[in-house]
Amino acid sequence: MTMERRNPNSLLGLTLLSLLAIASATVFFEEHFDDGWENRWVKSDWKRDENMAGEWNYTSGKWNGDASDKGIQTSEDYRFYAISAEFPEFSNKDKTLVFQFQVKHEQKLDCGGGYMKLLGGDVDQKKFGGDTPYSIMFGPDICGYSTKKVHAIVTYNGTNHLIKKDVPCETDQLSHVYTFILSPDATYSILIDNVEKQTGSLYSDWDILPPKKIKDPEAKKPEDWDDKEYITDPEDKKPEGYDDIPKEIPDADATKPADWDDEEDGEWTAPTIPNPEYKGPWKPKKIKNPNYKGKWKAPLIDNPDFKDDPDLYVFPSLKYVGVELWQVKSGTLFDNILVSDDPEYAKKLAEDTWGKQKDAEKAAFDEAEKKREEEESKDDPVDSDAEDDDDEADSDDAESDESEAKAETPETEEGDVHDEL
Ligand SMILES: *[C@@H]1O[C@H](CO)[C@@H](O)[C@H](O)[C@H]1NC(C)=O
Ligand SMILES: *[C@@H]1O[C@H](CO)[C@@H](O)[C@H](O)[C@H]1NC(C)=O
Repeated sequence: MTMERRNPNSLLGLTLLSLLAIASATVFFEEHFDDGWENRWVKSDWKRDENMAGEWNYTSGKWNGDASDKGIQTSEDYRFYAISAEFPEFSNKDKTLVFQFQVKHEQKLDCGGGYMKLLGGDVDQKKFGGDTPYSIMFGPDICGYSTKKVHAIVTYNGTNHLIKKDVPCETDQLSHVYTFILSPDATYSILIDNVEKQTGSLYSDWDILPPKKIKDPEAKKPEDWDDKEYITDPEDKKPEGYDDIPKEIPDADATKPADWDDEEDGEWTAPTIPNPEYKGPWKPKKIKNPNYKGKWKAPLIDNPDFKDDPDLYVFPSLKYVGVELWQVKSGTLFDNILVSDDPEYAKKLAEDTWGKQKDAEKAAFDEAEKKREEEESKDDPVDSDAEDDDDEADSDDAESDESEAKAETPETEEGDVHDEL
């Protein structure tokens, strides 16, 4: 926000300013939600006729590093959210693609997404929703204890492909910056708060193309391949008399009860107890096999089904940025969105926005937490139970909300992300 206050109502001005700052960077889209943002963004009517479309709140949130620096925040629970902005269409062929945004979950998110999408082609922005095809979906997703990850879904030839590596997301109630960088050599990086969390290649970390190498289906394990790691010790012999050791023996400590009558009760015999000498049926010792060659593996050969696509990383049309979410509990605030070709520019932008505000935001959050705790301890604990049911930060509430979340998530929703895969 520091940047656009110099240029209060001109996105173009801001872009030019950015270009001056780092001469090599091309900024395809940059949004700090200053005045006029509503002219650049289109709220979708998706789910509106079912009364399930949530309203956005234009705010800096309950705690922030600068109250005048606003973003857009989900403001209604159990709602779908869909909003998008258009930018001049481009292809990332031969370019590095950088997609970055800032997101804060003030509500202690227990089930919901905080991700954004890049879309191409022609999208009816008024109808933008969960079924609208997209090119990239990127950002944090949280549901219960099991899902706390950064999504990085890329669409290739009409199919969505999920990253295979696990990238944990931030789970606190503060702002964080998520960055996805995709290079023309098909390598990528995922950063959170300007720190690299994952890196690799589209070839290895997504199943987009068939694998380059496969196990040779013709190869057979050689007859004499010994893959037994342990064998029975041929030297080990059953000790003499081993099988004569009884499993149970009479209890030497037992005595015939004083009132035992041999005539009435029959001849007294001591009860039996497990024999400490008895070691079970004899088994020869196992030893390491001196001829062990390791597990046999088929040699790898070139996969005949693999056909390289040097344009694997290319999205021929990128034209919109959008948020499309389901939220059980609202309070997710987006800001400082960037689509560029320059990781350095993105890094500096994050430093100049989030980086300059994060300490003040943390202090404001700590202050808010302190106030909340004081207020809670003032309340009669018996009453507070009944009155506090909209207190998001209460840990007991968090738990019950989670089960609620699971029960009430509409089937289409969680399915949403997963069905598309
Ligand atoms: C918008 O956010 C502010 C700051 O958190 C809050 O005071 C206000 O009640 C919110 N408005 C709506 C309509 O949710
Ligand atoms: C793209 O999809 C079509 C239809 O599903 C398929 O026939 C074709 O082989 C795919 N191309 C690549 C490069 O995966």
